[in-house]
Amino acid sequence: MNEYDSSRIRSALGMELTDDPKEADVVIVNTCAIREKADQKALSSLGRFKHLKLRKPNAIIGVGGCVAQLYGERLLDHMPHLDIVFGTRNIPMLPELISQVQREKRRGVETSFDVEEIFDVEPYHEAGKVTAFVSVQQGCNKTCAYCIVPSVRGKEVNRPLSDILREATNLVQKGVKEITLIGQTVNSWKSDGYRFGDLLRTVSDIEGLLRIRFTTSYPRDITKKLIDALRDIPKVCHHIHLPVQSGSNRVLKMMGRTYTREWYIETVSRLRDAVPDIAITTDIIVGFPGESEEDFKDTMKLLRDVEFDGTFSFKFSSRPGTPAAEFSDTVADEVAARRLFELQEFQREITVKKNMSRVGQIEEVLVEGESKNSTNWVSGRTTHNRIVNFPGTGELKGNLVNVKITEGFQNSLRGRLIENLMEVNHVS
Ligand code: 5AD
Repeated sequence: MNEYDSSRIRSALGMELTDDPKEADVVIVNTCAIREKADQKALSSLGRFKHLKLRKPNAIIGVGGCVAQLYGERLLDHMPHLDIVFGTRNIPMLPELISQVQREKRRGVETSFDVEEIFDVEPYHEAGKVTAFVSVQQGCNKTCAYCIVPSVRGKEVNRPLSDILREATNLVQKGVKEITLIGQTVNSWKSDGYRFGDLLRTVSDIEGLLRIRFTTSYPRDITKKLIDALRDIPKVCHHIHLPVQSGSNRVLKMMGRTYTREWYIETVSRLRDAVPDIAITTDIIVGFPGESEEDFKDTMKLLRDVEFDGTFSFKFSSRPGTPAAEFSDTVADEVAARRLFELQEFQREITVKKNMSRVGQIEEVLVEGESKNSTNWVSGRTTHNRIVNFPGTGELKGNLVNVKITEGFQNSLRGRLIENLMEVNHVS
């Protein structure tokens, strides 16, 4: 979501990008507030531009995103070198804020949620990129006790189908082969009587598009229509990110997650019955206030029972204004740290085992470009979202190819090219 918003900021600015802050006329820091660490990182990276402002007083320094939304005007009070604060729904107003600073030498704050055109600025698209995000939803209507998102991104606003289609079609015309639909609870999307399953079908009709992904799904909003879409639409990748957060019913209840561990496991079974090879990844929070050793064991047991393909796990972080920030019975940091370590070690074993089990198989890979570290190697992803590196040249970029997997690691697979599916005409 932040990456997408940063591309929108870039496109709203309509300026040339520089890697060197000293060269910049405008510096915008886009921020995340999901955990305290991200929040602090945002503030300290803003602090670093103090010197730039001293040396170059006409440079404009701005901050956007969730931290800007959270602290608003107070940021201007604390940071005299800061010129602009704009919230999560105010990217379209950025050019106006900048010219206000230039014309009137007046610092600008815009954090209103009450804006019509929240999707108005489409992201900057880097030429030749094979994959792209398309936002289908802003904000969130859930009430998870730990989460700051509803207060910094506002209530759920769903983007109309026609707008989504227009953005997606434009991207495909520019050469994009894979689109990831993004929303805080993407599968809750609905608009003009259409549901998320309909959206997947409509986007999949775009000619030239090879793959569709979507993230992040809310467990309770998994419908039969979505499961059918995953099973029946060939372009929809066999991967779902389905944050469970905890394996303990007691903790799930305190978190306000609206489902039980049994209900979640049942949903996983329904997904796997329909799409046997589906990859399932999840998010887990450890050390939520009141989480006992017993509760944590339930989470570990869930990991063992479900065998996720990957897990993103975090220590609970108290966020201002959330209900959980007021909860008593907090878990000591060293206890939460130990639980996180145990959980990550356990998941690592599962992930490695799963990745190793691909060795010898032939996987369809969409080539995204040259590998990061080695020349004459290319990198892409399987339908299950596993990264595959194999010997090949940049010409393969954007092609769907068959790769025989030869090695499995924790974060990626390695293989060799078997055939280019675009050439053998399996793909239209
Ligand atoms: N503390 C720790 N992790 C959090 N997440 C969201 N809020 C918090 C918090 N206060 C995690 C959840 C979510 C992911 C994006 O971040 O696991 O799914």
